[in-house]
Amino acid sequence: MKKNLLDLLAAKEGYVSGEDISQELGVSRTAVWKQVRSLRELGYDIDAQPRQGYRLRLRPDRLLPAEIARGLNTGWMGREVVYLEETDSTNEVAKKLAREGAREGTIVVAEHQSRGKGRQGRQWESPPYSGVYFTVILRPSFAPRYAPRATLMAAVAVARGIKRSTGLEVRIKWPNDILLNEGKVVGILTEMSSDMDSIHHLVIGIGININHEIQIPSRYRYPATSLQSELKSPVSRLEVLQRCLEELEKCYDEWVKDGFANLLDEWRAMSHTLGRWVKVNFDEAAVEGTAEDVEEDGSLLLRQKDGSIFRVVAGEVLFPKTAK
Ligand code: BTN
Repeated sequence: MKKNLLDLLAAKEGYVSGEDISQELGVSRTAVWKQVRSLRELGYDIDAQPRQGYRLRLRPDRLLPAEIARGLNTGWMGREVVYLEETDSTNEVAKKLAREGAREGTIVVAEHQSRGKGRQGRQWESPPYSGVYFTVILRPSFAPRYAPRATLMAAVAVARGIKRSTGLEVRIKWPNDILLNEGKVVGILTEMSSDMDSIHHLVIGIGININHEIQIPSRYRYPATSLQSELKSPVSRLEVLQRCLEELEKCYDEWVKDGFANLLDEWRAMSHTLGRWVKVNFDEAAVEGTAEDVEEDGSLLLRQKDGSIFRVVAGEVLFPKTAK
């Protein structure tokens, strides 16, 4: 209902009379007024004039489901949106919904997270209305050992989405941090529920720093940046989210249909890590070497000083100045 009223107002430049709206929507004029009121509560600026009717002046800068749907060119991704003004973590909400049977492609999006989760137990700073914090539910039919590919795929999709919405060319730090001028602009956290040979569901949580003006308190070893800081002007969060959803759908469909090789090549082409001397911290240990390649299962191959290859499945990449 609300969507219909919005569409109707958006389709006209000027005012639409209450009478016309009530006829087109088949509801009473009181019902029209009530809908206008609830849209205003959501932040839509709707002007009402006694003899002229209603006019939509401004859409709110909110990631509301009706706004996401407008101009979203996908078949199944982001067609069901769970929108939350505030939550602890969209990954947590998505995992619960997935357990309850939510459809593939359902997304959970929040304006603010009080306990945004980062990788390796860290926190993801999620100030209100500044970034895009969302989680996608996938139900792939491949074996659990292929799940790390989902993370690489998501990095490629988000990199494409950022390019399309802002023109900015990002780099990917293994496995899936997205960097702009050496600052981290996107973090991705994939979580899986599976048994030995099948995946029940994957949730891919994506946090994009968009209009963060202040320096994000750096609990990370890597400095943070935002799209706005790089472009020196505000960026439409909605547009970034929509383009990322479109690219996520394309990448996932491509993976399922044609395999992973092309996506991996695209990841390699955008890599910030390959060819560099890196140190990878994992658990209590660390290993150094030249990042030579990434394998189809998502692991990173390091050429150590003695010429041997070390395969890293998970860990944090750092860039020491020189090889020891
Ligand atoms: C990282 O440490 O780089 C991963 C950060 C992932 C943050 C996103 S924001 C949306 C989703 N919900 C969470 O709690 N975390 C992910």
